[in-house]
Amino acid sequence: MTSPRVHISDRVPAEVEEAIAASFEIVPSVRDAGGVVTMLTVTVDDAYLEDAGPQLKIVANYAVGVNNIDLEAARRRGVIVSNTPDVLTRATAEIALTLMLSLLRRVTEGDRFVRRQEPWQFSLEFMLGERLEGKTVLIIGSGRIGRETARLVEAFGAVPVLAGRDADLDALLGEADIVSLHVPLTAGTSHLIDGRRLALMKPSAVLINTARGPVVDEAALATALRSGALAGAGLDVYEHEPHVNMRLLGLENVVLAPHLGSATRDTRIAMGMLCVDALKAVLLEGRTPTNVVV
Ligand code: GLV
Ligand code: GLV
Repeated sequence: MTSPRVHISDRVPAEVEEAIAASFEIVPSVRDAGGVVTMLTVTVDDAYLEDAGPQLKIVANYAVGVNNIDLEAARRRGVIVSNTPDVLTRATAEIALTLMLSLLRRVTEGDRFVRRQEPWQFSLEFMLGERLEGKTVLIIGSGRIGRETARLVEAFGAVPVLAGRDADLDALLGEADIVSLHVPLTAGTSHLIDGRRLALMKPSAVLINTARGPVVDEAALATALRSGALAGAGLDVYEHEPHVNMRLLGLENVVLAPHLGSATRDTRIAMGMLCVDALKAVLLEGRTPTNVVV
């Protein structure tokens, strides 16, 4: 019996590739594949699925976010979509905390300062920041990552406020010292944080985005930061990723990371193994995978 065929859209960790190769034949084109492993950089729209052909049964997205996939087109064509929740929850929450602490304690600003070899010595009023302790952290998105971030900020003595789908954001934004985004990107969350909502935040507040870039109007964010309407931002994702708005680059009160939310080796391997499980469920066992999205 020949193994079902799987196409992988990009490089994956060797452990994951071996696990795929143990059960499937890896093929260079999705047109020959019953299953495809996709990265969040691959747009799976109706044209992609049409081009792939009717033999394609499953798109295993190597991410928890599935905004790169037209779920309605997949449903219409009977293609199953799976994702990789849970295993990246802590890693992503850690990046949110990392951005918060780096920003509040001016660590990346200080790092740039040291590397410029500017003269300095310890001094009581030099580069003062803020403790996370005691801050009100508005967490927008009450899914797994949002709840984990709430748990971690609570451990630092900050006060998390979890805002779910139906929350009155306008009322909550003005109370927060830190706003951290943990919603999936959908039509309903695109530019959720726009110029109007940025203006509702305190001038002393900071924005953290580890979700998806287009949740924030990046041009409006740059304007708010430059005018002093907002004190800072910590970003792991960008509206036109991997492009970053040039007006953010020169700002000291911005911490910029290159989409590292789930970027630890064990996390990435665990995500890959969830893709393998989903491929096996659909292509070998003829059942719905545990992490089915549609
Ligand atoms: C990463 O951004 C993911 O959605 O897994
Ligand atoms: C969403 O899937 C989350 O983990 O928050």
